[in-house]
Amino acid sequence: MSEINDKVTNEKKQIVLSGIQPTGTITLGNFLGAVSNWGKMQEEFDSIFFVADLHALTVKREPAEFRQACMSFFAQLLACGIDPAKSVLYFQSHVHEHTELQWILNCNTYVGEASRMTQFKDKSAKHADNINMGLMDYPVLMAADILLFRTSLVPVGIDQKQHLELTRDIAVRFNNRYGDTFVVPEPYIPATGAKICSLQDPTAKMSKSDPDANAWVSVIEDESSVMKKFKRAVTDSGNDIVARDDKPGITNLLTIYAAIEGKSVEQAEKEFAGVGYGTFKTAVGEAVAEKFRPIRENYHRYLDDKAYLAEVAREGARKASAMGSRTLAKVKRKVGLVSFDR
Ligand code: TRP
Repeated sequence: MSEINDKVTNEKKQIVLSGIQPTGTITLGNFLGAVSNWGKMQEEFDSIFFVADLHALTVKREPAEFRQACMSFFAQLLACGIDPAKSVLYFQSHVHEHTELQWILNCNTYVGEASRMTQFKDKSAKHADNINMGLMDYPVLMAADILLFRTSLVPVGIDQKQHLELTRDIAVRFNNRYGDTFVVPEPYIPATGAKICSLQDPTAKMSKSDPDANAWVSVIEDESSVMKKFKRAVTDSGNDIVARDDKPGITNLLTIYAAIEGKSVEQAEKEFAGVGYGTFKTAVGEAVAEKFRPIRENYHRYLDDKAYLAEVAREGARKASAMGSRTLAKVKRKVGLVSFDR
């Protein structure tokens, strides 16, 4: 059973919380940049992780495919080492307190600040035919996700930092208006977090939405496909295997290898000194494939056991709801909504 259980009143450990949208699959970039660190954090903090399925609805989804993707993501998180005995793990849409809190936060957020968010502007440009209310309200739901618990640390990538800033602004504003209610969260940049770039354009971040499938590898991808993509990885001119600004391709591969093997980039450079690019790329591919093998195997095992997935998801939602409903009750009281003692 989780350490978190339902003890909210005398928590000692800090709460760490993060969500991931169920789109595509978990890539090497997501794994090294985020999910593998979540696995480490759950040893140290009271951890809350969820599949941000409601956030994903801001873009049109085909329902049957989307349901599949959500399930698959949940199984991938388990396979990547999120342990339901240590972390609270659930689907965002199963905990109605998230959206209930969002409404009250909406009434404390200005249209001006929401419409200034870079991601809103980018997504509006990209999906000009579907600039829905959810797209603009996206960061307020994220604020609700975070503030629903006494979250003090939020591991986020650089692309979500502005949303976390907005969350802090909303929390401070609410606390000033209604008295101390929310913990103001801090971004958490893990020491070991690695930024992984595209295998085809090493100056761009590895993205699962990259239409060129050779640019990324997924944690559940089969070995031969992983190897093929690494052999095709774009390298730089020259033949030294060193991490340097003018060698983004080699630097990226060294970063990947070092992160996978738990070594420093300098160690990796030494290991491959004098080796040819081809041999080097094969070695990096093998290291990645080796790391992913048990993840892929576990993933299929979990995905085949729907009863287990349902049990974990239900238990996670129950715990999240038990913790979140306390915050929500407090918030409702603070803003002056009527409540009768039960
Ligand atoms: N918006 C985040 C992303 O796309 C996912 C997310 C949703 C999240 N709610 C969150 C991350 C709360 C951290 C905290 O990456």
